[in-house]
This record gives sequence, structure tokens and C-alpha cells, in this order.
Amino acid sequence: MTDRTADRPAPEWAAYYAKTAGRPPRATLLAALDRFEKEGRTGFAVDLACGTGRDTIELMRRGWPTLAIDAEPAAIATLRARPDLPPGARLDVRLGRFEDADWPECDLVNASFALPICPPERFAALWQRIAASLKPGGRFSGQLYGDRDSWRGRPGMTHHTRSQAEALLAGLDVEMFGEEEENSVTPRGEAKHWHIFHIVAKKP
Ligand SMILES: C[S@@+](CC[C@H](N)C(=O)[O-])C[C@H]1O[C@@H](n2cnc3c(N)ncnc32)[C@H](O)[C@@H]1O
Repeated sequence: MTDRTADRPAPEWAAYYAKTAGRPPRATLLAALDRFEKEGRTGFAVDLACGTGRDTIELMRRGWPTLAIDAEPAAIATLRARPDLPPGARLDVRLGRFEDADWPECDLVNASFALPICPPERFAALWQRIAASLKPGGRFSGQLYGDRDSWRGRPGMTHHTRSQAEALLAGLDVEMFGEEEENSVTPRGEAKHWHIFHIVAKKP
């Protein structure tokens, strides 16, 4: 079972941060980074909705200059203060919502358990910005939520059918497309039916 610690899209992220502190990087990020390593490449990364940095720290550890963006001040403050930030880490942080943000052209856009927390009417433009910001050979890693996910219909959230998710990836080389569906609980103990697409895709 994957560590599906997205918890809920509430303004009170503090409990989520406390529950998930110290957890390892996401498998989708690791899969993308391993592919870059096999190609003998690193680059510049953007970590959208970085939280307190479980993925950002891995990017730092592997020497990727990274722009980390999150809408929650506590996330950014905690990330900046992490004792495991390597000395000289090339990390820029930005407080803001990803659907409002601009970021430079990059080699990797990582968005772990985050993109579904985008209002449906803003998702298409967000996805277009992600795809457009990738350099040729760049990758996206992250998750989308499926149409059978029990949070479907919550205000401000976007879910996709499998075919809608596949359509988003048209024009990219899909390197990982894992579909996960299970009844479980969130880190804060809420029963939930999870329906998740785990994605790594490369821009040709
Ligand atoms: C479920 S956590 C995921 C954090 C981290 N990526 C991870 O994998 O653990 C979601 C994070 O998204 C942030 N967030 C939610 N909506 C956002 C938005 N529209 N723009 C930027 N960050 C957002 C929250 O503040 C929170 O830190």
C-alpha cells in the first residue's frame, strides 16, 4: 500500500504536517529522479505544494536547485528551518497558490498529492502551465485523484476519470501510470476511499 498521506484539503494543515513529519520522499519523485540519474542528468526542479518538504529535502540531497511553492506559511517556515537542509542547499521558497504562481522553465515539476486541491475551473490552465514549463526531456511527477475517490465533489477539488487523466498526458511520454484504489484512513483518522493515479511523464 502506498503512503497516501494527502489528508484533507482543510485550512488547518498543522495537524497534517505534524503527522507526516519525517516521512520519506514520494515514490513518484524517486522514480523520476532515478530516471534522471540513469540519464546522467540533474537540473532545476519546481516542487508545487511542497508542504514541509518531504520531497524537497530529497531534491536537495541529490543536488537539484529547487523552487518550492506552498500556500501555507507554516509549510514554508518549517521547510526553511529543517535541520536536514544540506549546507549550501540551492533552495528558493515561495508562498502562494500554485494556480496563481508562475515559475521558470524547469527540468522537473513535482506535485505530490497536491494538484487535486485545485478548483476545477482553474485546473486546465494550471496543467497547461506545468506542461509548458517543462524543458524538452523534463518530467512531471505527482498524483491526480480519480473519479471514484470519496472526496470527489468537495468544493475546490478536481478529480479525473482514468481517460481524462490519460488525456492530460497526451503529448508526454508516460513512464509511470499507477492506479490505486482502496478503502483506508487519512493520517488524521478519517475513513476514505482512495482512488489515485501515480504519474511520472517525460516531455519529448
Ligand atoms: C497533502 S499536502 C502535500 C504536501 C507534500 N507535497 C507531500 O507530498 O506530503 C498538500 C499541501 O498542499 C498545499 N496546498 C494546498 N492547496 C494549494 C494550492 N492551491 N497552492 C499551493 N499549495 C497548496 C498545502 O498547504 C499543503 O502543504
